[in-house]
Amino acid sequence: MEKKKVRYAIIGIGKMGSTHARKLLKGIDKNALLTAVCDISEERKAWAKNTLSGVRFFDDYKDLLVQKDVDAVIVATPHYLHPVIAKEALIAGKHVLIEKPAGVYTKAIRELNELAASLPEQVFGIMYNQRTNPLYKKAKEIIESGQMGQIKRINWIITNWYRPQAYYDQGGWRGTWSGEGGGVLINQCPHQIDLFQWLGGMPERVRGFTHAGVRRRINVENDVTFYTEYANGASGVFVTSTHDYPGTNRLEISGDGGRLVIEQHLLSEKLTFNKLGVSETEFNLNNTKFMPLIPSKTIRKRTGTLTNAVRLGIVGQHANIIRNFSRAILFKEPLVAPGADGIRGLMLSNAVHLSGWLGGKELTLPIDEELFIAELEKRIGEEAAQSGANA
Ligand SMILES: NC(=O)c1ccc[n+]([C@@H]2O[C@H](COP(=O)([O-])OP(=O)(O)OC[C@H]3O[C@@H](n4cnc5c(N)ncnc54)[C@H](O)[C@@H]3O)[C@@H](O)[C@H]2O)c1
Repeated sequence: MEKKKVRYAIIGIGKMGSTHARKLLKGIDKNALLTAVCDISEERKAWAKNTLSGVRFFDDYKDLLVQKDVDAVIVATPHYLHPVIAKEALIAGKHVLIEKPAGVYTKAIRELNELAASLPEQVFGIMYNQRTNPLYKKAKEIIESGQMGQIKRINWIITNWYRPQAYYDQGGWRGTWSGEGGGVLINQCPHQIDLFQWLGGMPERVRGFTHAGVRRRINVENDVTFYTEYANGASGVFVTSTHDYPGTNRLEISGDGGRLVIEQHLLSEKLTFNKLGVSETEFNLNNTKFMPLIPSKTIRKRTGTLTNAVRLGIVGQHANIIRNFSRAILFKEPLVAPGADGIRGLMLSNAVHLSGWLGGKELTLPIDEELFIAELEKRIGEEAAQSGANA
C-alpha cells in the first residue's frame, strides 16, 4: 500500500502560490501531493491548465474547500484574505498553512487563532520560511541555550528591500492601503519583524516613525524606524526602507553574555558571536580597571552559496516549511512556525503603523485594535477619494 501523503490545495497561484505549486509537483516533499489549485484570474487559470498536469482547478475557493481529496490548503492570496480563507478552510476541516503576513490587522488574526485553538486536530501553520535559515536558527539556539544571558539590545537595519517606482507601478493590490494595508512593514518586512520578536521577544512599548511615499509616488510607508522597550529593560531599534541602494541587512543582538551579529552582503551571509568568558554583570562586580578588556572567544558561521540560494527561496526555504507542515500532520512533528505565532509580528507591525500615524506616540502592547482599524479605514477612504479625483 502506498504510504499516506498529505493532499494539498493552493488558493491563490500568483507569484508565490505558483512557486509552491511547481515545487510540490516537482516532488520537493515526499509526504505531499498537489491535488487542486484555485485562483480568480483567467490568466492564472490558463497557466494552471497548461502547467499543472493532473491538478484540478477551481475558480472559487469555497468549491475547493468541500473537496474530499484535499487535506491541507496553502493560502497565498493577497494578505487581507489570509484570515478570511483560513477560517473557512479550518471550518471545512482542512489543515491550513497561510502565507505571511498572517493578515493586515490583529483583530482578524485573534479570531482566527481562537478558531484554530478550538480545532487542535487540524494543523495551522504560517510561512515564516526565514526561521529555517541556518544563521537565524543558530542565533535562536545561542539565545535559548542561555549563552547570550539577558538580552540588552536588539538592532536591525534592513534597508536592502530596494523597490523602484516600476515595482509600485505594476498596480494591483501592492503598495496601497486598500490592497494590502501598508507598505514595507506589511509586505517586505514581515519575515524580519517575526525574527525580531522570535529572537528578541515581544516588547512592552513601541514608538514608530513611518514615512510614506519617500522618493516614490505611493501612499503607503516605504521608510520606517521603530524603537522598542522590553520588560527586562532592554531596547531595540529597527530601520527599514525600500529606496536605499545598495542598502544594509545587519542584525545585532547584545546580551550580558556577548554580542551576536548576522550580516548579509549580496549572496554572502555570516553570523559572528563574540562570547564573553564571563558575563558582563559578573565581570563588572569584580573588575577594578577603568578601561578593561573582557576575555571573549569568537564563534563564526557562514552560509554557502547553496544555503543562500535556499535563503532567497531559489532552492528550498519555503520547502522546509512545507515539509515540516506535512510531517506535523502525519507524524505530529512540532511546527517551526505555528500559525498562532503570526499575530506576534503583526501586532508589532500594527503598533508601529499606529504609533507612526499618531505622530510617534509611545504605545503599550497590546494596542487598541479598534483604533488601528479606524485609522487604517481613514487612509483607505483618503486613497479612494484621491484615485476618484485622479480618474
Ligand atoms: N513567504 C514568502 O517569502 C513570500 C514571498 C512572496 C509573497 N508572499 C506572500 O504571498 C501572498 C501572495 O503574494 P504574491 O506575490 O504571490 O501575489 P500575486 O498577486 O502574484 O498572487 C496572488 C494571487 O491570488 C489570487 N487571488 C486573489 N483573490 C483571490 C481569491 N478570492 N481566491 C483565489 N485567488 C485569489 C490573485 O488572482 C493572484 O493570482 C502575499 O500575502 C505575500 O505577502 C510570501
